[in-house]
Amino acid sequence: MGKRKEILLTGGLGYIGSHTAVELLENGFMPVIVDDLSNTTENVLDGIEKITGIKPVFYPFDLKNKKKVKEIFSKHPQLKGIIHFAASKYVGESVEKPLLYYENNLCPLIYLLKQALSYGVKNFIFSSSCTVYGQPDKLPVDESAPVKKAESPYGNTKQIGEEILEDTTRAEDIQVISLRYFNPIGAHPSAEIGELPRGVPQNLVPFITQTAIGLREKLYIFGDDYPTPDGTAIRDYLHVVDLARAHVTALQRLLNKQNKKKFEVFNIGTGKGTSVMEMVKAFEEVTGKKLPYEIVGRRPGDVTAVWADTRLAEKELGWKAEKTIQDALRDAWRWEKKIRKSR
Ligand code: UD1
Repeated sequence: MGKRKEILLTGGLGYIGSHTAVELLENGFMPVIVDDLSNTTENVLDGIEKITGIKPVFYPFDLKNKKKVKEIFSKHPQLKGIIHFAASKYVGESVEKPLLYYENNLCPLIYLLKQALSYGVKNFIFSSSCTVYGQPDKLPVDESAPVKKAESPYGNTKQIGEEILEDTTRAEDIQVISLRYFNPIGAHPSAEIGELPRGVPQNLVPFITQTAIGLREKLYIFGDDYPTPDGTAIRDYLHVVDLARAHVTALQRLLNKQNKKKFEVFNIGTGKGTSVMEMVKAFEEVTGKKLPYEIVGRRPGDVTAVWADTRLAEKELGWKAEKTIQDALRDAWRWEKKIRKSR
């Protein structure tokens, strides 16, 4: 095998970043990881090494440090692409601290782009979110649906991020794929890496697994009066390993110059909607554990239902989710049991 192509992976020790590091290594790439460890730990590197046999190079710094951003490009003149995960991701927190979110999610993006241009790194993958669609008028939602006014500063940083990138591709020699993720869940099937939520989990699946293991008394289901078949809200949950694979596929599209435009957007989901109640039932079936829950009021800012039209990703990227919700819940549960044992 030839020399591995180096890919800068910002936020590469985070939940999606670490799974993508594994997929990159398994596909012959060499991730160069930057992470400020604000929402993860250095132990994740050992997990990546256990799965792949390779410990990637890692730089612990904050990408708001312009000088360090420049340094990484000068230290790695062979970089072939950038996958930019590093960002703050708590919707509620973003409402409380908007400036923190605008600064954390947009300044590093700008610094990275400036250095990418000056060092001739032409391939950029951006972590976007289905949150840009708000409550879509038509389901499943496709990429041509209008971007609605963001519900939170977090969501707005994803919209503005896409605009910054699109404008930059119009003016400069750089090409971008923005991946609009639906709801990533699960963990690596090896249980060597997974999600490490900070404090009380905000997202459904970590809350479910923490309840099942006894860390939380019960799951609070936010609303059963939505206009859906069972009254609970519907999302498109996809396995994080499938999502990680989508990044490798998108990167290969850019490297092989198969992209049709300099700025492309793809939905990354399964194409299937699942309600909160269906998730609870699926978890119980897969694990054989009874999950205590209580129905409470709706959570502000939540939409009723969203799931992806994935035809564009299938046709253009040749990517399709392969794992089921059952696979994801089984892997999330295995990971939960493992991290509780080791603490
Ligand atoms: C959330 C973010 C979204 C972000 C995504 C990343 C909000 C409003 N949106 O999506 O911007 O891109 O995470 O993962 O936070 N639920 C419960 N009880 C719980 C937790 C969740 O009933 O304890 C329900 C929610 O009401 C929702 C579903 O489960 O209907 C999924 O919630 P969650 O995992 O937080 O994802 P989203 O809100 O879809």
